[in-house]
Amino acid sequence: MKIDKFKVEEWFNKYEHKALYDLADTCVESLSINELIDLTGADVKDLFSRKLNYGDIYGSDRLKNAICTMYENQTPENITVTHGAIGANQLVMLSLIERGDKVVSIIPTYQQHYAIPKSIGADVKILYLREENNWLPDLDELEDLVGLDTKIICMNNPNNPTGAVISEKMLNKIVQIAQKSNAYILCDEVYRGLEHNGVMSKSVADIYEKGISTGSVSKVFSLAGLRLGWICAPKNVITEVNYQREYNTISVGILDDYFASVAIENKEKIIERNLSKILEGKNVLSKWLKNESYCSCILPDGGTTSFVKYDMNIKSANLCKKLQEDTGVMILPGETMELDGYLRIGYGNNPDKLETALNIFSNWIRQQ
Ligand SMILES: Cc1ncc(COP(=O)(O)O)c(C=O)c1O
Repeated sequence: MKIDKFKVEEWFNKYEHKALYDLADTCVESLSINELIDLTGADVKDLFSRKLNYGDIYGSDRLKNAICTMYENQTPENITVTHGAIGANQLVMLSLIERGDKVVSIIPTYQQHYAIPKSIGADVKILYLREENNWLPDLDELEDLVGLDTKIICMNNPNNPTGAVISEKMLNKIVQIAQKSNAYILCDEVYRGLEHNGVMSKSVADIYEKGISTGSVSKVFSLAGLRLGWICAPKNVITEVNYQREYNTISVGILDDYFASVAIENKEKIIERNLSKILEGKNVLSKWLKNESYCSCILPDGGTTSFVKYDMNIKSANLCKKLQEDTGVMILPGETMELDGYLRIGYGNNPDKLETALNIFSNWIRQQ
């Protein structure tokens, strides 16, 4: 299967190890195992005597029950455990999409949501989010794109890179549009739980009979190193997905399963920690934006990233390349997410470093 290059991941591979200040990251400062244990008070003694076999193939009951607490109406039969949200998204698409199928993808977002359907040979129609709509989908445009034969709508809420959060009311309208063509909705909900007002947004899996939610412990739980995600979907979809899954997953590994269970069982504590870091970072970002006349942004309502517009006559990839070469500040160019003229700035890590890096960026702008 031929597939387009994954532009964001390639940018990371090329630049991240050289960055002095990494503002491209989408995680909230990652946790160590010690920090996870301190924060949750988990007793992990029983872990060390466990045999390191494949473990529970589709995820342990403990983990699947914990994942169900992220939803309103889901049972373990609606869950399968995957290698990160990246594995979850790929498995859903490989299971449901066939050559010639009509797919609508809402972008900017993680490139999987349009590159994989395209690589399968689907007819992919793109709905671009626009800043003048507060980065929310224009529902008339969506209705025009979703024909009677659309197989699946691929979207992401809260959104990376813009940080926009779709309200329950709007999500219900998107469901109504999908229902007309009996289309699935795959909603990548990897940032769900990091809404800045502390209210977890509705999951598409809880409000639509053909809604599929993907998630992981990478962002909300600061545990990207576990490589653990999940699919929450109607049972028939989980059955289909598990056929595919036998070919690329077997299981996620006992250690990942164990620590993810600990984390999700203590979600209130971890989310509280993460939201406080995010809000601190967002405050730094918003103060900087007030003083930086060359940059502007609709402040995010969720997640860890902002999509900042810049007023300079240079392509975003060239800007980011030169900025990093000159100063060590790494920012992600909008071009890697199909929208030039924008920069993705993450603010979930150390706020002091963020402030320093943004000031370095401002000084650099003045020198251009
Ligand atoms: C929208 C989105 N989906 C999926 C992923 C992949 O996440 P994971 O680390 O859980 O595989 C990312 C990572 O940045 C993301 O931003």
